[in-house]
Amino acid sequence: MKNIAIFASGAGSNAQKIIDHFRNSDKGRVTVIVCNKPGAGVLQIAEREGISSIIIEREAFFHSDKYIQLLQEQQIDLVVLAGFLWKIPANLVQAFPNRIINIHPALLPKFGGKGMYGHFVHEAVIAAGEKESGITVHYVNEKYDDGETILQERCVITPDDTPETVASKVQALEHQWFPVIVERLLTTF
Ligand code: GRF
Repeated sequence: MKNIAIFASGAGSNAQKIIDHFRNSDKGRVTVIVCNKPGAGVLQIAEREGISSIIIEREAFFHSDKYIQLLQEQQIDLVVLAGFLWKIPANLVQAFPNRIINIHPALLPKFGGKGMYGHFVHEAVIAAGEKESGITVHYVNEKYDDGETILQERCVITPDDTPETVASKVQALEHQWFPVIVERLLTTF
């Protein structure tokens, strides 16, 4: 049984899908939800699901080993970023080599990097006249949206698509694939 930590800053729809996927699993379980935004929807999900949650402070996150120690004490095997808006500091990346993954709502390396999240991504994809978008699940390194790709899945963009309709197509891919990829990774270590 592997222990999963989910890092999230927002609504937590991906966190919910991962929690659902592992609800009766013997492969993994979500043991903690780490959040940087008091009041975020993902914290209500943690509450409802009876999963412990931590609200992290910026100073300690970027300038101490406090959260690394906490994750190690909880014997976390995989850190899953599901809409976590801070960059992961180098000490955390190094403490969990190839054990931190992220999902990005576009086909990296395009439309990634600082500030490219949520509707900003889909607006940029449409403005660029792209014929497709999709998701990228990748390992996390010290840069935004830059680590080795694990999986990409695509969706078509039609001329009458809007950032909102692209967002819902992409979110459907996220919800379909992210839990599957997490489980697949858990079986590799
Ligand atoms: C998703 O679009 C994901 O690709 C990105 O952040 C968003 C999280 O959405 N990393 P939610 O909070 O899981 O609904």
